[in-house]
Amino acid sequence: MSQDYILQAQGLTKTFAGFTAVSGVNLDVRRHDIHALIGPNGAGKTTCFNLLTRFLNPTSGRIVYNGRDITNTSAARVADAGLVRSFQISSVFSGMSVLENVRVALQRATGLSTKFWLSERRLARLDEPARALLADVGLAADANRLAGSLPYGRRRALELATTLALAPDMILLDEPMAGLGHEDIDPVMALIRRAAEGRTVLMVEHNMRVIAQLCDRVTVLRAGETLAEGSYAEVAADPRVIEAYVGGTND
Ligand SMILES: Nc1ncnc2c1ncn2[C@@H]1O[C@H](COP(=O)(O)OP(=O)(O)O)[C@@H](O)[C@H]1O
Ligand SMILES: [Mg+2]
Repeated sequence: MSQDYILQAQGLTKTFAGFTAVSGVNLDVRRHDIHALIGPNGAGKTTCFNLLTRFLNPTSGRIVYNGRDITNTSAARVADAGLVRSFQISSVFSGMSVLENVRVALQRATGLSTKFWLSERRLARLDEPARALLADVGLAADANRLAGSLPYGRRRALELATTLALAPDMILLDEPMAGLGHEDIDPVMALIRRAAEGRTVLMVEHNMRVIAQLCDRVTVLRAGETLAEGSYAEVAADPRVIEAYVGGTND
């Protein structure tokens, strides 16, 4: 396993009651890349994410993160080690302000969350880093707004800020553009590019324009297996990849 790679999986396999959802997948994610995991519906992308973040136990295979074998490490410890999944783990509390949401995430990250008796003064110490994170995702002006009142694109920005509060080295995004209006695609792409500075991103995405513009490497799954891996141009020109998409889903 090489230092150039932050995350590697070898022979990753997951069987659900006799059905193999992920079958012998090898994945090599280079440090500081934005790496896309694509494939038709049912290809095993989300299952792969669940395996990599240790939400699911692999039936077989090995996962190495930052040179450490994490195949049997708990999800919480993997997150502590800096491998963090966004848009699922970091739910937004609609009834809290935007700033409070980031403060709660920071509290969680610093292990303060169990201390209910935290004084207002100690909590206020989190305001400055929280505001810095909001500035990073372009939400500085929305700090006091109720999170539930944010339009969808800005909600994504807030979700990303709460993820960044956990100080990840690597972020996994499962369909970050899902549910977004056309006008939100470019802003969220810019947001991801910014969040990827000095970090690694692995993302499941369907929008080919997003993949072409954003991603350094692409791994294509089909029916649980790796079909192709390369740059966007390489995989987009691969007849097997074209066939997989033209052939539709494999549910
Ligand atoms: N918990 C589960 N139990 C049984 N089958 C599952 C489970 N999770 C996923 N699957 C099946 O595994 C396959 C891959 O699913 P998934 O990883 O969600 O695909 P993708 O994210 O690529 O659309 C699908 O056929 C799905 O129905
Ligand atoms: Mg999925």
